[in-house]
Amino acid sequence: MKKIEDILGHYRAGSHESLIPILQDIQAEEGYLSENAIVQIGRFLEMSTTKIYGLATFYDRFRFIPCGKVHLRICDGTTCFINGSEAVINAIRENLGIEPGQTTRDGKFSYELTSCMGGCNEGPVINVGDNYHNHVKPEDIPELITKLKVLADLK
Ligand code: FES
Repeated sequence: MKKIEDILGHYRAGSHESLIPILQDIQAEEGYLSENAIVQIGRFLEMSTTKIYGLATFYDRFRFIPCGKVHLRICDGTTCFINGSEAVINAIRENLGIEPGQTTRDGKFSYELTSCMGGCNEGPVINVGDNYHNHVKPEDIPELITKLKVLADLK
């Protein structure tokens, strides 16, 4: 709650053009946009929550549910795409049974697609916390997820 107030304190009340930067800041801090955050933003910017949700859902980078214990970021940049990221993303989708931006029912996993992470020569690239997995192939995904489940169980 305090963190959201702090973030809002950096913006001018009622300034609708601040909406997207505010949403980005809050998501960076909290990991997702909670209902409470949307309500507070609405009060601060004097906008309806319906309008805020409408605008926020237009951008696929915003999340409305908490991330899983293990959150994967999969590069969806052009070079990784050329190197086969689409098949990797499909393998993750199949393995976890969720779409980008969703969290598994057990709360262990979530994933998102990101723009270039700066490791194009090493692509397809997956980032998990401080670790980067390079040259990932679809057939690597079951073993990677199995290893990450151990990590999720420890959290
Ligand atoms: S396009 Fe994936 S790291 Fe650059």
